[in-house]
Amino acid sequence: MDFPILNTTAYGHPLVYLDNAATTQKPRQVIDTLTNYYLTLNSNIHRGAHYLAEQATEQYEAVRPQVCQFVNARQSCEIVFTRGTTESINLVASSFGQRFLGQGDEVIVSGMEHHSNIVPWQLACERAGASLRVIPFSDEGVLDLEAYRQLFTPHTRIVACNHVSNTLGTVNPVKQITEIAHLHGVPVLIDGAQAVAHMAVDVQEIGCDFYCFSGHKMYAPMGVGVMYGREEILNQLPPYQGGGEMIKTVTFERTTYNELPFRFEAGTPSVGDVLGLGAAIDFMQQQGIENIGKHEEELLEYATQRLSAIPGIRIYGTAPHKVGVISFLLGGAHPYDVGTLLDKLGIAVRTGHHCTQPIMDRYGIPGTVRASFACYTRTSDIDALADALVRIAPMLL
Ligand code: ALA
Repeated sequence: MDFPILNTTAYGHPLVYLDNAATTQKPRQVIDTLTNYYLTLNSNIHRGAHYLAEQATEQYEAVRPQVCQFVNARQSCEIVFTRGTTESINLVASSFGQRFLGQGDEVIVSGMEHHSNIVPWQLACERAGASLRVIPFSDEGVLDLEAYRQLFTPHTRIVACNHVSNTLGTVNPVKQITEIAHLHGVPVLIDGAQAVAHMAVDVQEIGCDFYCFSGHKMYAPMGVGVMYGREEILNQLPPYQGGGEMIKTVTFERTTYNELPFRFEAGTPSVGDVLGLGAAIDFMQQQGIENIGKHEEELLEYATQRLSAIPGIRIYGTAPHKVGVISFLLGGAHPYDVGTLLDKLGIAVRTGHHCTQPIMDRYGIPGTVRASFACYTRTSDIDALADALVRIAPMLL
């Protein structure tokens, strides 16, 4: 495993990178793929008849079946490349909202969503005169499925829920959540941004209608993401953005649209980043996705023990099924103060509300300090964090 950036020093200390839920670092093979693309292949795709354009198109389109296999979609036309999870969710909320949301309709989201799985739905609801209904969760960070069942009414049009909470680390029972919605004939969107780097995802097994994720949280470059949608439902949605590539014919009177998935890929895509996503999938599969998950599970157990033993630490998110994410507070210290002192010791964590203000309101706190792990995280990184917390605690408590 070769992640060049991990050799960085910060303020004279070896970098301890524990902000992987924000973005993972990139292995050399992903960086090389990106560099080689711009050194040898750069050209626009689907448009040119020349050598470079054909090569770039072929390589770009080869990543689509690779992603299809990665999430076990039925067919490659169900894989739409976007800029990231946020764009994927906005695409669905906008197109689905336009087609299916009307006055008095309802959208169910969970109480532990990232803002990017709340605000696009709020915007769609505002346009349609619809409203949000929210699944509550327990102090441990577990969704209340009984309350969820009660939220359905004849006006429920879609459920949007994350697979894994970026703040609490909870792995949600997305298969069950989908089954319950389908009993009511309601489709489901899963935000998989925090899941794909840590576990094998099978969209057919989950049964969801949409599954959205970003490349940059799974070792790929920033600027590329995926919107998986079941073919039958995608075919019912109007286009999201208009532009080149998404059309069949254009006149000033009328435009006809391209077939899937191109209907949802207006304009020049980020070709190099898509190739980088392919390289990241290769990397993960070489490591073994199950091995990555198991390694991170061991780290989580170790980190939970070490941090729980430090006086004054309170962990937020203690669900029985979690990924390697630990959110915590140190006594009454403000999370920014803790994060700033850790940073000066070379330890990178995220502090604040993590784009999940409703979670902070639920606990009545301003934010947390969050440490999050990846395949390259070592127990020595956890030790560095725990030792640093012990060292800074007297300055803050
Ligand atoms: N959504 C990312 C995070 O949780 C940025 O940090």
